[in-house]
Amino acid sequence: MSLQIFRTKHVVTHDGHDHGLKRCLSAWDLAFLGVGAIIGTGIFVLTGIAAATQSGPAVVLSFVIAGLACAFAALSYAELSAAVGGCGSAYGYSYAAFGELIAFIIGWDLLLEYGISVAAVANGWSGYFNNALTAIGLPLPEMLTKAPKLGGLINLPASAIILMLMGLLIIGVKHSAKANNAMVVVKLVTISIFIGIAVFNVHPVNWHPFMPFGWFQTLPDGKTTGVLAGASLVFFAYVGFDAVSTAAEEAKDPQRDLPFGIVTSLAFCTVIYIIVSGLLTGVVPYTDLNVSSPVAHALTLMGYNWAAALISTGVIAGLTTVMLVLYYGLTRIIFAMSRDGLLSPFFSKVNPKTQTPVRVIILCGVIMALIAGFIPLGDLAELVNIGTLAAFVLVCLGVVVLRITQPNMKRPFRTPFSPLFPVLGMLSCGTLMGFLPSLTWLRFVIWLVIGLIVYFSYSMSHSKLVKH
Ligand code: ALA
Repeated sequence: MSLQIFRTKHVVTHDGHDHGLKRCLSAWDLAFLGVGAIIGTGIFVLTGIAAATQSGPAVVLSFVIAGLACAFAALSYAELSAAVGGCGSAYGYSYAAFGELIAFIIGWDLLLEYGISVAAVANGWSGYFNNALTAIGLPLPEMLTKAPKLGGLINLPASAIILMLMGLLIIGVKHSAKANNAMVVVKLVTISIFIGIAVFNVHPVNWHPFMPFGWFQTLPDGKTTGVLAGASLVFFAYVGFDAVSTAAEEAKDPQRDLPFGIVTSLAFCTVIYIIVSGLLTGVVPYTDLNVSSPVAHALTLMGYNWAAALISTGVIAGLTTVMLVLYYGLTRIIFAMSRDGLLSPFFSKVNPKTQTPVRVIILCGVIMALIAGFIPLGDLAELVNIGTLAAFVLVCLGVVVLRITQPNMKRPFRTPFSPLFPVLGMLSCGTLMGFLPSLTWLRFVIWLVIGLIVYFSYSMSHSKLVKH
């Protein structure tokens, strides 16, 4: 597993016999896995927030810009996942390219990405859940559905769903490819219903003014607005395509199929996002979309209550699996880092009864439930984005570095126009980071400083990885 990759000076490619996981995922399973992890709160919730407060109807441009940055990063991911392999995702690639310290930083960064993503998606889940409860006449008191910053006490459903998933992961519920495929179908049906109705209800007047907040500006309270700020927020909708690379050990032919899975799922989702965001701002005025369940809300405003209820159900089911994949991914990264000696062995203990890393699951679950209950979605999404964008910058740089340091490495998939595309990936992802608010930067830097303290006070001396 990841340790095996790290043990040699050279990067080990997969030979198909180095571990016990069953190689059962086909190229299309991987693409479905990507779509399953990608489509979630970003499109179903953040589109509304971004349209109402940052981009206006030009949120569609925000999606195009964020999608483009992801496309460059995805091509780099595709090259490294096929050449380096391993289960640690960007953590493994950065070890191969840059060595232990940067690998640790990326791993630490991924903890932020996955951990906060779960809390953010739980917020989106909660919005649709409350919407459904209200529709059947059982609304929760408002105090219990909002974070303190938004005028509530706690977002109780968001915390509760994470604790429920914690229970599921403890007893060992894994995300099977079949269940994932079924859930992807549910999500796509949900989206098709919306598209099918919206396409006949567009009022082009809603697309004017197209760019009410301009390209970019910082407001007096430190918040950012404009199409580019919107792009750095809706980037969250694309988070998850990198999760495909964590399935390297279960793929039938990872070197051929991973690039296909990553690139196909990203391209497909980009098209869906452009269509949905264009329609959403075409059917109702963008100013009406700053709500926690904008797609269902738009359908209700159009008078399609049955469709709103159906969509809410689909979204609730769909987001549950996004959280499960991300939560599972989080525990897997902590487990890998702990096994490699970079985090305490306390975290890699597997409970003999349940055969799952119960300690990590509980610790992560409780922390994420608290975060989900008390911090609003927008803040969480921006924090996820800055961490993910930083990881993407390093993955793109990794392609360039490995082409120089290991020119003869077997590369079943080559990023086209290298080094141009990886460099464009670094520039576009780095620029999107620049459009995030300063408070998000501060939180991110604090997280990294804590990581460096952990590394220099513990990980460096306990590492089991071979020093170069
Ligand atoms: N891309 C995932 C979502 O939008 C994380 O929910």
